[in-house]
Amino acid sequence: MSASAPEPKRNQGQPVPRIDARLKVTGEARYAADIPLNNLAYGVLVTSDIARGRVNEIRLDEARAVPDVLEIISYGDIDGIQRPQFANASCTSLGPLHETTIRHDGQIMALVIANTFEAAQEAASKVTADYQPEQPSASLGSAGTETIPAKGNTERVQDDPAVRDFAAAFEAAPVKLDAAYTTPTQHHNPIELFSTTALWTGDQLTVYEPSQNVYGFRAEIARQLQMDPAKVRVVSPYIGGAFGSKGPMTPRTAIVALAARRLNRPVRCVVTRMQGFTTATYRAPTRHRIRMGTTPDGRITAFSHEGWELTSRVDNYVVGGTSTTTRLYGYGSVYSRVNLVKADRQTPGYMRSPPEFPYVFALETAMDELAERLGMDPVELRRVNDTMTEPIGGKPYTSRSLMQCFDQAAEAFNWAARNPKPGSMRDGEWLIGLGCATAAYPTNVGAATARVRLTANGKVLVQSASHEIGTGIRTVAAQMAAEQLGVPVDAVEVMMGDTDLPPAPVSGGSNSTASVCSAVLTACRQIRARLSQASVGSHGGPLAGKDPGDLDIRDGMIVANDGASQKLQEIFRALGAGVVEEYAEFIPEGAPQDAVQKLYAGASTLINGSRRSKVQYALGAEFVEVRINVRTREIRVPRLVGAFAAGRIMNTRTARSQLLGGLIWGMSSALLEETGVDERTARYVNRDLAEYYVPVNADIQEVEVILVPEVDHEVNPAGVKGLGELGNVGTAAAIVNAIYHATGKRIRDLPVRLENLIV
Ligand code: MOS
Repeated sequence: MSASAPEPKRNQGQPVPRIDARLKVTGEARYAADIPLNNLAYGVLVTSDIARGRVNEIRLDEARAVPDVLEIISYGDIDGIQRPQFANASCTSLGPLHETTIRHDGQIMALVIANTFEAAQEAASKVTADYQPEQPSASLGSAGTETIPAKGNTERVQDDPAVRDFAAAFEAAPVKLDAAYTTPTQHHNPIELFSTTALWTGDQLTVYEPSQNVYGFRAEIARQLQMDPAKVRVVSPYIGGAFGSKGPMTPRTAIVALAARRLNRPVRCVVTRMQGFTTATYRAPTRHRIRMGTTPDGRITAFSHEGWELTSRVDNYVVGGTSTTTRLYGYGSVYSRVNLVKADRQTPGYMRSPPEFPYVFALETAMDELAERLGMDPVELRRVNDTMTEPIGGKPYTSRSLMQCFDQAAEAFNWAARNPKPGSMRDGEWLIGLGCATAAYPTNVGAATARVRLTANGKVLVQSASHEIGTGIRTVAAQMAAEQLGVPVDAVEVMMGDTDLPPAPVSGGSNSTASVCSAVLTACRQIRARLSQASVGSHGGPLAGKDPGDLDIRDGMIVANDGASQKLQEIFRALGAGVVEEYAEFIPEGAPQDAVQKLYAGASTLINGSRRSKVQYALGAEFVEVRINVRTREIRVPRLVGAFAAGRIMNTRTARSQLLGGLIWGMSSALLEETGVDERTARYVNRDLAEYYVPVNADIQEVEVILVPEVDHEVNPAGVKGLGELGNVGTAAAIVNAIYHATGKRIRDLPVRLENLIV
């Protein structure tokens, strides 16, 4: 950018209501499956009843005889579409119709298309299969699984960081802990069901699908259908619940596109809630072994974190492992290793804070156990091991406000009133437990592009193919443009979720606000530079001859610091233009030179906050109160308090909502969520919202979010750390720690249910 571009005063943290709030609450916001199309046909998936084996025969005749059925696509009838490639844009390499081998429960066996949804559904129910079943392996610990090291077996980053001699340090430590933890299979259950709508216009394909990665989907659809990506458009206007579930594409999309091409008619497939459990991804169950050794005063001299994560037979998906837990405190020595356990399940995938949720649960529960063993306050244990440099490479944190978060949350929570003795606090028939834990999430950032247009009448248009997954990204992008161009937020229109717009990265890893706002900021600075340059130029206006660095844009005017000003309209006139438009490419430090070309080709290169020249983390401290009924062991959570530091907060309202939702999800993970897997059949047993437990309003009482001020100019131009995935990290540990405080019973396996507390 031009050094002469003036910098406006930043309206940090304005609690601007979502610019699309009205559309959402009135039902006007159109989700992908709401887009009205003429002559639409409906597709319904047929999925397998076994998890492992072969389909000897699939019988379609009865289904074909159902009135209004148009077509059934099944084995060997797929017009040469290519197998998916397991990568960031595709959740699996399994081509379900490419071969008759069944590798997981509920695998796609056919797509039935009819004139009506009801006819398609009826016909789908009449498809039968003759299987040759084999005994499947259901989960971690089942017979027949295969365990391999993650490192070297996946393209995804898995660094297994280790430094100094852990074994010797652990051996020598006077205080030791060696404990195992587990987290269960979880499913996303977005309220907006998974869906694909495909429409062909000549040789051009438009796909409407809820997606966190429209450019990635475009590239992968084009590859599977062997098309020029320029002829594919992916539109994802609003998304109702994503959190990773709509990040990578599933094999469904290309099959629906194929059906639409064959019928020469738009086809829409809305996946049922039950089929969503097996045709999309889920959170892999994990196991952990943590070993820690400390000095008598609580300094951790030895830290080891080993993990076991479930994956499918066909793909080596890795949750992400230990990159955060091995860097979180100032350990003297570190050992880590992540293992993949291959079972007869579909490939798992991203689910809100994929590695941090399970791995930090294990670490932060272990920290509480260690504090107990040392006779130390759990907050003080974290303070003693706080560090401004991570222990693996000795790299400094760009900023780290962990203890400020602990101090502010502890005060709001009145932690000082806690009697540390387990079982010592009681209110009538309720045992009171107070616990805490650290929340941590790396500041990821990726190359992003944006186009910004300012018109002479003060209207702004922002275009960037990011995705409104419910976080409020449209709103914060509008805020960034508004403050830079001196217009009210409601003068800004934001277009996203469409491959006709300039590309942005996958909306995952909490990178979007940082990446997209940095691109919008860069484009706005280019506009400011052009206008400032014009105002000081030769047309002889009131600002002629001034230093452009002394100018600001406010209320439709360019203003000098001596008070002189000129209306933007006059500058537009002098420029002979009705609009000033700028396109900008933001490439973060550490990104490859061709990161923007890659982005156009559908590959986002997110730079992980633990792997830059300085480490970047958003951090927080979470405190919870649990109450456990003395007789029934019913568990209640009357209070959740979190304090978080995440650099610049673009919008205190949307930030608070993200963190609030995160805390609640963390509580849900601790006490409710688990997908049961039948050990004999490797099938999910609770595939609906009646039996997959999530919290309701009655489960949530007081939730307090504290935003701890933090300024970090090093993370990215926007100064934003990202916090969408921060809030639910640590919560589950804080809850089991509080349960220990209430009952003296240490729970190391999630979810905790009242039956686990009956001695
Ligand atoms: Mo998030 S699980 O990175 O979409």
